[in-house]
Amino acid sequence: CLFHMPRCLIVLTLAAAAAFAQTPEQRADAMLKRMTLEEKIGQLTQLGGLPIIPDQVSIDERVRKGQAGSILWLSDPVMINRLQNIAVEETRLKIPMLFGLDVIHGFRTVFPVPLGMAASWDMDLIERAQTVSARESRAAGIHWTFAPMVDIARDARWGRIVEGAGEDPVLGAAVARAQVRGLQGTALGAADRMLACVKHFAGYGAADGGRDYDSAYIPDVLLWNVYFPPFKAAADAGAGSFMSAYMDLNDVPATGNSFLLQDVLRKTWGYRGFVVSDAFAVKDLETHGFARDAKDAAVRGFTAGVDMDMASRTYLDNLGEAVKSGKVPVAAVDAAVGRILTVKYRMGLFEHPFGNAGTLAQVSQAPEHRKLAREAAARSSVLLRNEGGLLPLSASTKKIAVIGPLGDTSFDTLGSWQAMGQKLSAVTVAAGLKARGVTVEVAKGVQIRKVFPSMFDTMMGSPAEAVWTEPQAAEEFAKAVDAAKRADVVVLALGELALMSGELSSRSSLTLPGRQQELMEAIAATGKPVVLVLLSGRPLSIGWAASHVPAILQAWYPGSEGGHAIADLLFGNANPAGKLPVTWPRSAGQAPQFLAANMTHQPEGSPMYSSRYWDEPASPLYAFGHGLSYTTFEYSNLRVAAGEVSVELRNSGRRAGDEVVQVYVHQRAGGASRPIRQLKGFSRVALAPGEKRTLKFPLGQEQLSYWSPVEKNWVFEKEEFDVWAGGDSKASLHVTYRP
Ligand code: NOJ
Repeated sequence: CLFHMPRCLIVLTLAAAAAFAQTPEQRADAMLKRMTLEEKIGQLTQLGGLPIIPDQVSIDERVRKGQAGSILWLSDPVMINRLQNIAVEETRLKIPMLFGLDVIHGFRTVFPVPLGMAASWDMDLIERAQTVSARESRAAGIHWTFAPMVDIARDARWGRIVEGAGEDPVLGAAVARAQVRGLQGTALGAADRMLACVKHFAGYGAADGGRDYDSAYIPDVLLWNVYFPPFKAAADAGAGSFMSAYMDLNDVPATGNSFLLQDVLRKTWGYRGFVVSDAFAVKDLETHGFARDAKDAAVRGFTAGVDMDMASRTYLDNLGEAVKSGKVPVAAVDAAVGRILTVKYRMGLFEHPFGNAGTLAQVSQAPEHRKLAREAAARSSVLLRNEGGLLPLSASTKKIAVIGPLGDTSFDTLGSWQAMGQKLSAVTVAAGLKARGVTVEVAKGVQIRKVFPSMFDTMMGSPAEAVWTEPQAAEEFAKAVDAAKRADVVVLALGELALMSGELSSRSSLTLPGRQQELMEAIAATGKPVVLVLLSGRPLSIGWAASHVPAILQAWYPGSEGGHAIADLLFGNANPAGKLPVTWPRSAGQAPQFLAANMTHQPEGSPMYSSRYWDEPASPLYAFGHGLSYTTFEYSNLRVAAGEVSVELRNSGRRAGDEVVQVYVHQRAGGASRPIRQLKGFSRVALAPGEKRTLKFPLGQEQLSYWSPVEKNWVFEKEEFDVWAGGDSKASLHVTYRP
């Protein structure tokens, strides 16, 4: 080329021009015409990456034969580029592979866990964070993430509640859109963005008993009104791929479910991206007692609408024969391969197949990434309680005891889905406070351990710690109490280990695990001012704390810069404004618990019969949308007219702060009973002290329609509606409205 520069340039220019003259669909079509059946099935196959999923045949050999359209779970850029090189240099058709990894809340720079990000109610923040995730991932050669997880979760026992945006379809849909925009950009194709995969379609969060993978039984009325909207929003935002869920939905496995994948996704929503199964879910169709054998599983997964088989190689081993025997039409294979290739062309994968290990370190250490992680952690934290204005701490606080098993552990500051990329260590609560120049004494006091550790604990590198002997445990407990006595203020860092929520991490109780409750009571008994900082991926039963510990900050798993952000909040350099994206139950016995329930014929509080438990109130500990600030806000002039709500908000306190304005409605009568309150609009606004702002929210047919179990369709009933606006779901400022 060097010696024939002009000619070479002409050839290259012509090739590029030919590529760009065609649409991605046309390029996919042209490629399809050149492919053998085996090569097509290769594109429908995602191989499990080593060393996590061992394979008899070497992965190189499979790639070389064109048996992989994608590889799962590699994060080492050198290994990724080496394999990609085989795909684009040594295979007959030189089709690049998609490298897919669960980049859920950051790759190297880790943001708060998704439930925490949702608690920020800040869609711009979520979008910016996912832009960073994409940039760092692409530098490592990873093109595809299995996010956003948009499963609605109404049961805190379910471990994966941490991965989603909580219980509400309106908030869930907004978060879904923001994540897709952040990951992919406005359209697929930028070299520093990545392909999103919306999961787990659909109903995974409604698992019976909150047990992971268990069956879900969801009536149509809840599918359409509650569980589907975030998926629909993500599809409309242009998400390039969807993932089918593991569990049975109404007795049909989601991965073999043509109602979900054909009727809803393709026909009703007109979705044109491709569908991948969850890992091994195609093979698992057998386990469900649904498919007769692996062949049947391949046919039924594929014909139901799963284009790509994640990791189980069931398509690779069986689909060819199914096509030859006429069980699967070639046209269907072509359509599926066409969808996958179209996405690859649209992404520009043929032009940019590789990562750039050289820039990875630089990209992922960009100061603006860490800065955003700090901002995100501060904006996600929710101040649950602040009696007597203990927070913010006075600047004269000199000595802080950071007590509890989560006060100084980098791993547990990051949360689940953190260890797939090489991680940079996180700023712990103790480190964040130390960095402010106060004297910090750290004491764990107690240890927390899982009764049944899962494969993830080892796989994700969860640090193993020698279990304390009984005398040691007593000594550590006493040390913590002594440290508290010496301090001006105690920051109690309690909750759950990072991997106590996430996949395989359901719980039968929501209590603080181990002896943390005992520790908390002993520390409170010292009479020192105590701030409880909770690190968890789900609401916990903190009823005692809610009436005995003056300040409680829910920090979720705050990510790389968590400790700095928590210090910012505790000392008032940042003003908390996060709000709960889930109803916070008193105990696991209340699960499932959520705001948008229907009114019973005898609501709690009725004089005679009353819907409640005899041993505790039916109401939650903290309502959906709850979260305090160091300033106060006043709402006034709520009006609804011509499909628009307007309300005035004033910062009536002495500090600048953000408020998440929330609009709720209730339809008073109609063809079906409607929930007591449903979120219909929200906006996070920043106000200086004394500043006033009028906020407007649409409230028309789109917001007020619902899927009717009677009409089996969307209806808009021009009935009377209650409308509330305020800073949480208990908002009392109210008007009625008839559209
Ligand atoms: C199983 C999980 O259910 C899913 O969320 C994840 O994306 C895949 N494994 C791949 O890691």
